[in-house]
Amino acid sequence: MDNISDLIKRAREAQAKAYAPYSNFRVGAVLVTKDGTTFLGSNVENSSYGLTVCAERIAVFKAVTSGEKEFAYLVISSSGMGYPYPCGACLQVLAEFSPELKIILVDEADNIKKYWLKELLPKAFLFNQ
Ligand code: THU
Repeated sequence: MDNISDLIKRAREAQAKAYAPYSNFRVGAVLVTKDGTTFLGSNVENSSYGLTVCAERIAVFKAVTSGEKEFAYLVISSSGMGYPYPCGACLQVLAEFSPELKIILVDEADNIKKYWLKELLPKAFLFNQ
């Protein structure tokens, strides 16, 4: 894995690219594949609020559409509110590809908390298990 401070820096860069004029809550995600390739995601909001897509899903979809489906780490930062726990929809999408994913949350002061995806979503809906 890249140095955690490098990954936090990249998450902050993704966070700065969020399009969040409605909530003003900016999220950055760095998804790291098992072979060390990184994909960045930021939340993208819409005037039709329900069309908003979370940073985590943007990162997963970028990775999958680039041919990568095996992930080791996801680092998430945000513009406030303590640790940015990923929403249930994003956890479900992540579980599709990497049930063994490690998720690293970064608060405003760059403190981190680490979880396995399974701790945050113990019973994902998955075919073939
Ligand atoms: N958001 C994310 O990007 N990731 C999450 O896991 C939760 C929420 C975004 C969506 C929306 O743009 C803003 O945060 C407020 O919900």
